[in-house]
Amino acid sequence: MNLGMEGIPYNWHEQIINLLAERIVVVDRDGIILYINEAYCEFLGTTVEEAINRPVQDVIENTRMHIIAKTGQKELAAVHPINGSEMVANRFPLVVNGEIVGALGTVMFRNPEEWRMYKTKIQNLAEELNYYKTKVEKDLKSKYHFNGLIGNSPTFLATKKLAERISANNSSVLLIGESGTGKELFAHAIHNNSMRSSLPFVTINCASIPEHLLESELFGYEDGAFTGAKKGGKKGQFQVANNGTIFLDEIGDMPLAMQSKLLRVLQEKEIQRIGGQKSIAVDVRIIAATHRDLEKMVEEGKFRQDLYYRLNVIKIEIPPLRKRKEDIPLISLGLLKKLEGIFYRKGIELSSDVIKRLMQHTWPGNIRELENVLERAINVLDGKIIDLAHLPLYLRDLELDNTCVKETNKENKPSTIKPPLQVQPLKETLAKVEKDSILQALDVTNGNKQEAAKLLEIGKTSFYEKCKLYGIN
Ligand SMILES: Nc1ncnc2c1ncn2[C@@H]1O[C@H](COP(=O)(O)OP(=O)(O)OP(=O)(O)O)[C@@H](O)[C@H]1O
Ligand SMILES: [Mg+2]
Repeated sequence: MNLGMEGIPYNWHEQIINLLAERIVVVDRDGIILYINEAYCEFLGTTVEEAINRPVQDVIENTRMHIIAKTGQKELAAVHPINGSEMVANRFPLVVNGEIVGALGTVMFRNPEEWRMYKTKIQNLAEELNYYKTKVEKDLKSKYHFNGLIGNSPTFLATKKLAERISANNSSVLLIGESGTGKELFAHAIHNNSMRSSLPFVTINCASIPEHLLESELFGYEDGAFTGAKKGGKKGQFQVANNGTIFLDEIGDMPLAMQSKLLRVLQEKEIQRIGGQKSIAVDVRIIAATHRDLEKMVEEGKFRQDLYYRLNVIKIEIPPLRKRKEDIPLISLGLLKKLEGIFYRKGIELSSDVIKRLMQHTWPGNIRELENVLERAINVLDGKIIDLAHLPLYLRDLELDNTCVKETNKENKPSTIKPPLQVQPLKETLAKVEKDSILQALDVTNGNKQEAAKLLEIGKTSFYEKCKLYGIN
């Protein structure tokens, strides 16, 4: 059964057509009007009876309908002078069984006024859309501000103040800090506090991009620059970040060859796409970050000295958590609030024992480690209060050591049973320490081996070898 228009009663057709297009005309191959609706006739100052069966040129001034019926070429949004004004028209050929049988014309706007009204409406919508789009993009891209950086210790406040003060200018910033100290947060906050805040903030993690992709990622490539290159070429992140900020995270892991290319961009303020000849000017503020000792790397020839000087215009050293232990309670509360939101929980508190314990630990993984510890605690928590039992073993072990010391001191008498002093071969002791450090690092990073290797400041390969040696999975 054919269910085309046949299902619609015939006397409905005209109304449907008129509702679809307010003003409409249909001509045959010779340009004779077969159909024209009342609204169009009214617009033309004529009537349907007068217009029908007449050559379209006699009824509509400046018409091109008879031409479309011959050429078969449609014309969209064509400006059409009529009645001393300009309307906007669409014209389509009508094709039946592969043959042009005539043409259909509709009037989109009767006059410039109508078009302008439409345009203003669309323009307002487009502006609104744009506003929300940039707002969403901004929320996605760079959501941290200085007021989200928790800490009241003098060292942290001084760091924050320095970062706030230098955010307004355009100088390069080098953020130095151990893993998990908040380098990325600082980079966001600096951008958000700058004149570039409404412009792009682009992050490049130099450690996680494969070396052979780094150049095309940063600078882009031209059409056909290499096999597999996307058609039309690709913009590099420097171009994407134009007028905004580019955050080069883990800059210490950037290969030497790329360092030279980066240096050139910083000096010339222009980039060249791979396979391209012309230089493209870019205005980008650079914020770089690393947990590595760049000065030492420069001495060892692993980092270009000239690049180091270029990046090191403003150096901000973010203090590790162990140097601002007084901030631990406040940061913990802040992190708990954040985690409560993520886990749909409310009113979670830390017992005073836990707070004490958190302040005793040295936090090699800094705030990220603290965050992981709290997240784990919330996961094993039934009630509202996080207690020592909810902490990972390595933090609970700390308790045992300390209470032993405390108790013997309190009683103030020499213990009668002295544990036999066990001396082991140095090799075994070292191995035990090594194994324990690896386990601790894995605990801190929730089992993430790459991060753990980073914390221990050893290479990935050597880390995996050691894991194998000590039977750590
Ligand atoms: N001052 C702070 N206040 C609150 N939260 C913080 C603060 N600093 C860092 N954090 C939180 O700690 C975590 C680690 O921060 P971030 O990723 O910025 O560290 P990083 O220095 O870049 O670490 P890495 O070297 O491992 O990349 C994030 O979840 C961040 O939200
Ligand atoms: Mg980081």
